[in-house]
Amino acid sequence: MKTVGMVGWRGMVGSVLMQRMREENDFPLINPVFFTTSNVGGKGPDVGRGTAALQDAKNIDALSAMDIIISCQGGDYTNAVFPKLRAAGWQGYWIDAASSLRMKDDAVIILDPVNRQVIDRALDQGVKNYIGGNCTVSLMLMAIGGLFEAGLVEWMTSMTYQAASGAGAQNMRELILQMGEAHRVAESLLKDPASAILDIDREVAGILRDERFPTASFGVPLAGSLIPWIDKDLGNGQSREEWKGAAETNKILGLEAAPIPVDGLCVRIGAMRCHSQAMTIKLRRDVPLAEIERLLAGHNGYVKVIPNEREVTMKELTPTAVTGTLQIPVGRLRKMSMGNEYLSAFSVGDQLLWGAAEPLRRMLRILVG
Ligand code: HSE
Repeated sequence: MKTVGMVGWRGMVGSVLMQRMREENDFPLINPVFFTTSNVGGKGPDVGRGTAALQDAKNIDALSAMDIIISCQGGDYTNAVFPKLRAAGWQGYWIDAASSLRMKDDAVIILDPVNRQVIDRALDQGVKNYIGGNCTVSLMLMAIGGLFEAGLVEWMTSMTYQAASGAGAQNMRELILQMGEAHRVAESLLKDPASAILDIDREVAGILRDERFPTASFGVPLAGSLIPWIDKDLGNGQSREEWKGAAETNKILGLEAAPIPVDGLCVRIGAMRCHSQAMTIKLRRDVPLAEIERLLAGHNGYVKVIPNEREVTMKELTPTAVTGTLQIPVGRLRKMSMGNEYLSAFSVGDQLLWGAAEPLRRMLRILVG
């Protein structure tokens, strides 16, 4: 039985990973060792075999005793610890949610329903570093992997609608605080059916622009607004989140030698934990819509094609419908007015599940058999 070090299991992604590992009965298959950066010697979680003292996540000797380490601790931890661990000669498997190692030549971005062949080849070649992808990219590939697999994508754009969770737990809290503030200032006017909507609007706009409005995490209001920039400014007009679209998609698919152009515009909106994206896909040839739907639906066990009809779209193709589930609905499928090779699509996915924890959990299962 493999000894598996768990780091960052108490944070948001780590908690989702723990929950999924419990649901899927992963713990009986491994010998888990829980690490901490803040509570060495404290009591570890009970995953069905009593509790053990938490070990020091900075202790290279303790980490070196692991066959596999899964880290949800974040990029700073990876940057600080991973090089030392490898320099000390550790030969185990490193599975990580952070982006630090993603684009390294000796690392594979893991999304096994999409790139199991890439993963298997890397395992055969002795690759030891397996890194979860950017959430938007992973969710896009889970939705339209069937088109990539069929070699149909010439290029694509993805215009995103990204949830607060992608920015962190504090940001989710702040979004709700902001919503509460917007409601608070309008509450008495809302109760009066005779009040004027422009008065309500003035109160809400006033509090959004008020310097006391809670914006410590986002920097600006998100509730009642949106933020058309995610992650760092690369200085060329593109955000780092937008850059990841092409870089990670092609690495996941093993297409670095002949990359498919992927670009778009990434926007933060006031959803809690589901990222959505509107895609324009330039097909290599005119494929009938029915065939496209068949390719999409047959690609993996989680994608669900939603008919391009109003009622079912409003009900099933939303963050509210998808949140907390592994389902990846894809809909709004139609040929665009630019021509029959231009396909429109919209998809939604839980950013903490397929976008973060689930590919890590599944990589562990691949390793422990
Ligand atoms: N970068 C993503 C976001 C989350 O900000 O929504 C993680 O991939």
